[in-house]
Amino acid sequence: MGFDPDDISSNRSGNTPFAKVVADRYSRRDVMRGGTVAATGFLLTGMTGTTVNAHPAKDGKSALLGFEAVPPSEEDKVTVPEGYSATVLLPWGHPLRSDGPSWAKDASNTVEEAAQQVGSHHDGMHFFPLGRGKDASEHGLLVVNHEYVDTTLLYTDGDEEMTQEKVDKALASHGVTIVEVRLVDGQWQVVDSDRNRKVTPTTPVEFSGPVPVDYPELQARDSQARGTINNCSHGVTPWNTYLACEENFNSYFGTDDGSWEPNQLQRRYGINSEGFGYRWHEVDPRFDVAQNPRELNRFGWVVEIDPFDTDHTPVKRTALGRVKHEGATVTESRARVVVYTGDDQDGDYIYKFVGDKPWRSVRAKGNSPLDEGTLYVARFDDDGGGEWLPLVFGEGPLGSDNGWTGQADVLLRTREAADALGATPMDRPEWIAVQPGTQDVFCSLTNGELGEGDANPRNPNSYGHIIKWHEKNGHNTATTFTWDIFVLAGDPAYDDAVELDEDSIFGSPDGLWFDPDGRLWIQTDVSNSVQNDPDAGYDNIGNNQMLAADPDSGEIRRFLTGPKGAEITGVITTPDQRTMLINVQHPGEETATIGEPTPQDPRAVSNWPDFDPDGRPRSATVVIRKDDGGVIGT
Ligand code: FEO
Ligand code: CA
Ligand code: CA
Repeated sequence: MGFDPDDISSNRSGNTPFAKVVADRYSRRDVMRGGTVAATGFLLTGMTGTTVNAHPAKDGKSALLGFEAVPPSEEDKVTVPEGYSATVLLPWGHPLRSDGPSWAKDASNTVEEAAQQVGSHHDGMHFFPLGRGKDASEHGLLVVNHEYVDTTLLYTDGDEEMTQEKVDKALASHGVTIVEVRLVDGQWQVVDSDRNRKVTPTTPVEFSGPVPVDYPELQARDSQARGTINNCSHGVTPWNTYLACEENFNSYFGTDDGSWEPNQLQRRYGINSEGFGYRWHEVDPRFDVAQNPRELNRFGWVVEIDPFDTDHTPVKRTALGRVKHEGATVTESRARVVVYTGDDQDGDYIYKFVGDKPWRSVRAKGNSPLDEGTLYVARFDDDGGGEWLPLVFGEGPLGSDNGWTGQADVLLRTREAADALGATPMDRPEWIAVQPGTQDVFCSLTNGELGEGDANPRNPNSYGHIIKWHEKNGHNTATTFTWDIFVLAGDPAYDDAVELDEDSIFGSPDGLWFDPDGRLWIQTDVSNSVQNDPDAGYDNIGNNQMLAADPDSGEIRRFLTGPKGAEITGVITTPDQRTMLINVQHPGEETATIGEPTPQDPRAVSNWPDFDPDGRPRSATVVIRKDDGGVIGT
């Protein structure tokens, strides 16, 4: 469809763009060369922290990566290496229970039916084992985020006419799906369970932490705060709960009130009168930003869901801040929880939350470790160092003399507080992953336009890159770090700073996840406005894909390619690493080089995965297994 509202910066703080920082550190020629950096033996100079990526792989091949690369593909299918299989498990519209409403391939499922089916546009995902030992890898709860909907594909007649029923069907198709799954005779299947359910934008929610539910700025038309929306990536806590993150919440709101203008805060969060163009506000006053402006303030949070407890009310953990959260990657350091989050918009920031006390002792007192702690925002310095700047009321520029009224105010206006602290604008921070062992942190910067001048290695940075940092003493609780570039994405045919090859070229890294062995899985979301377009330098890269990287040698190899118009996202394995689950999101979306689906021809771009001549493309969770039953990636 090509709308990427997060491509457009709403940061007018004037803080130094990350691309400028990179430019200041390296001449173009010196920029680290991605996947083949090990072979060149290139070592960054001037670094005060660890220099990873500099250990040559044995015989040029990483022992971590045991599969043969799949070639780039423009085909309408999922491709995995020889010796692997990929099977669809959980497509949009699949009934949550076997006696539930079946998928209507003409999109005629009603609101009530959609509420009993798997949502659309699968994104972040986790597998929570049920049982122990072998059973933990063959039986579990699958929790899947549903980021948005395609309003052409969601309705039989498209979205030209907007009705409350259409809004309600879209709402029922957003949120989070929880289903129990089991491996039976070598096949994963959804099993009937009382735990199978959904959290949607209409589910009642609680607020916890420094911004209470009765905070004046949270008072909106509906006295009950409801729901979560645009759930992109996610997190998992050490106490086995799921964190659904709210990303482009701004884009659901709009107004036909010609006299409405966004205020400073709304502007900073990218609120405008059109949003995604869903036009829900035309029929549902909840989403009219002029009539119901404080509804907006109920979104942009991280939402904790207990997948095991069907009576649990989802809780918005306000201490983690209010931004367009891509994800919320949780790790432990010195017995505290540390939560990393990227604010995915061009020119926005990377944050981390550090718990005040050991998380076990907080929980022993009946409190949440996510309610008590400090939120920081990152400043990346051009000497290779960096600092975490605390977003604490009364500290630095965040005092009452500058108009701040308390910690709730700082958190509700997280972006403005981070601006005031001098955080470093980044090229759209997406997923964040913590390397097992080293505890080094990797973040996808999917693309951006903020760099300036010839000295900038990539300005505009249309292919994106992955940055990594080492927290002082390897403690994720630290307030300083050293950073490095792990890889510049792209195609050397168009950008000689890129040293990837045909087995590893990719663009716009998005999903990032370390498996327990330390393989870094990289998933891509190249915009359909440039996908496979030679004029944009994307004709060799093919459809969106997933690659695996050896974080120490820097070697990267393509593992999977997706169908037309789709991004690849969401990745997790069972504890034994013999089943991998990934998501194919938005197959068949409008793609500049292919076309545009219409209500009459929803298959104009893709017909994955059903290939039904009367059907339509749909997002789905895919199971990957090795034919010999081995560990994925070996
Ligand atoms: Fe929802 Fe930033 O991807
Ligand atoms: Ca993403
Ligand atoms: Ca995305």
